Amino acid sequence: MKIAISFAILAAATVHGAVHNSTVSATSAADKFPVIGQMGSSIEGASVNHKGELFAVNKTHFLSLKTGTSDPRNPRLVGPGDKTSYFASSRFTRSHHVLIGDALGHSIWQQDYNGTVKRRWHGRFAKRAYTPFLINDKLLQPNDFTINQAETYLYMSGMNYTATTQAGEHGDVWFYNIKTGTHKQVAKDVMRNAGIHRCNGIDLSPDDKYLYVTSGQNYNDTVISTKIYRFEIDPATGEPRNPTTVVDLYQVLANAGVKARERGMDPDGMRMDIAGNLFITLNAIPGVLRWSTTIPGNATYIPLETVDAPSNLEFGGEDGKTLYIVGRCQDREKACVDAYKHNIPGRAITNLRLSGPPGTGNSTITPDPGTEFPTMPNPPNTNGSSSPSDADQEEKRRELLEWIKVVEKYIAKWLKDYNPSKN
Ligand SMILES: *[C@@H]1O[C@H](CO)[C@@H](O)[C@H](O)[C@H]1NC(C)=O
Ligand SMILES: *[C@@H]1O[C@H](CO)[C@@H](O)[C@H](O)[C@H]1NC(C)=O
Ligand SMILES: *[C@@H]1O[C@H](CO)[C@@H](O)[C@H](O)[C@H]1NC(C)=O
Ligand SMILES: *[C@@H]1O[C@H](CO)[C@@H](O)[C@H](O)[C@H]1NC(C)=O
Ligand SMILES: *[C@@H]1O[C@H](CO)[C@@H](O)[C@H](O)[C@H]1NC(C)=O
Ligand SMILES: *[C@@H]1O[C@H](CO)[C@@H](O)[C@H](O)[C@H]1NC(C)=O
Ligand SMILES: *[C@@H]1O[C@H](CO)[C@@H](O)[C@H](O)[C@H]1NC(C)=O
Ligand SMILES: *[C@@H]1O[C@H](CO)[C@@H](O)[C@H](O)[C@H]1NC(C)=O
Repeated sequence: MKIAISFAILAAATVHGAVHNSTVSATSAADKFPVIGQMGSSIEGASVNHKGELFAVNKTHFLSLKTGTSDPRNPRLVGPGDKTSYFASSRFTRSHHVLIGDALGHSIWQQDYNGTVKRRWHGRFAKRAYTPFLINDKLLQPNDFTINQAETYLYMSGMNYTATTQAGEHGDVWFYNIKTGTHKQVAKDVMRNAGIHRCNGIDLSPDDKYLYVTSGQNYNDTVISTKIYRFEIDPATGEPRNPTTVVDLYQVLANAGVKARERGMDPDGMRMDIAGNLFITLNAIPGVLRWSTTIPGNATYIPLETVDAPSNLEFGGEDGKTLYIVGRCQDREKACVDAYKHNIPGRAITNLRLSGPPGTGNSTITPDPGTEFPTMPNPPNTNGSSSPSDADQEEKRRELLEWIKVVEKYIAKWLKDYNPSKN
């Protein structure tokens, strides 16, 4: 009984919590990232490369906020900007180059260097050596996504913004097993039973054991409830399961004197540090909430100087401890960026700096063929069922392109080092 009561108190503390106001605000970083001034109101999807430099998307562009287009080795992607495409998220990886989420394209694009996207015959766009990492029209969006440390599992969130939302119908969470190319949606009845509405912010715990996802409920065109849910990750399969509420944002912020509900706050992007602090953008109000997932009730409201409606955030800077927050400025037309000095590095940049296969996460890297021949893998099995799905075909295409790249490297090395005509 006593145990049950203390658990109940602990649970209440976790969901309702005590928040203190940060004495330190996030301050403008526009001088460091001059490109911010051209990003416009659709600014979203912040990410950093291994150097800790900030990138972001708007509806049509993915680019460095420091250099824009001037550094040819910085990845840059330009979409058509029509009703087939709306960039909403981005991430650098060690082994899959840069990934850019396209909410209207129901896709994640994989970008190596500097590509401009062109239309493809079936309405989506791509160009030579440019591969869709994932396309699935059953996804509501994706709005944002996160990847585990091994870069084998990817998790996506999405929403259908309607006047009155229903749990399980207007928000989704998807799991993508990168190795097998399998897409799996968290079952609608699991979402419904947990009370999860529109999904937006998404990130993993530093140990990849839990997945945190936001939920926003609309009633008659008003956001009436905003929460954060925690899923357990099945260690064997990587699938998210058993969602439970961990934060009631309106309640927590009201306790701190922040009138989030009255101001229509709708949580947007979230990012984790390596100690389990979750940073949540409070879209519509100029603030970010730091919430400890390990110490119940330890939370801070961080006011923002120039970002009035934050949409996304990421840790960067040389030590990986500077939190960059992007969003709309006070005029709600332009894009602004603020920076907040934290004392712990971010999860994404820490993972990115692990040694591993070079991706464009390391934009200073030059591929070194080394002294050994690259291992020649067998060609992927392109035998499929008689009527493979689009996703299967895309996956096969991707595998084949990867294999061709390795073979090309092999041949180039052979020509360079062993070509008998050299002697
Ligand atoms: C996105 O950003 C680029 C570069 O800053 C800008 O040229 C473009 O107009 C922006 N797109 C939108 C839809 O605001
Ligand atoms: C990137 O684009 C610029 C301008 O379009 C071009 O000059 C440069 O060579 C490209 N870099 C790469 C690595 O393709
Ligand atoms: C979005 O929700 C509306 C209202 O429930 C529905 O009519 C529409 O079909 C939904 N769209 C998708 C893509 O599920
Ligand atoms: C929905 O909002 C409209 C406009 O504010 C209002 O007239 C209507 O009564 C509301 N309906 C319900 C069921 O609350
Ligand atoms: C915390 O800051 C918010 C926003 O600046 C303010 O509305 C609120 O009153 C503050 N709360 C406390 C307890 O000082
Ligand atoms: C709350 O979390 C912050 C950030 O991780 C940490 O510095 C602080 O010591 C924690 N406070 C308590 C009471 O644990
Ligand atoms: C990235 O490049 C730097 C400098 O070339 C190098 O020191 C570092 O080890 C590289 N990191 C990764 C993850 O390859
Ligand atoms: C693919 O199909 C061909 C012809 O049916 C068969 O000979 C071959 O062994 C198959 N390859 C694999 C890897 O299954």
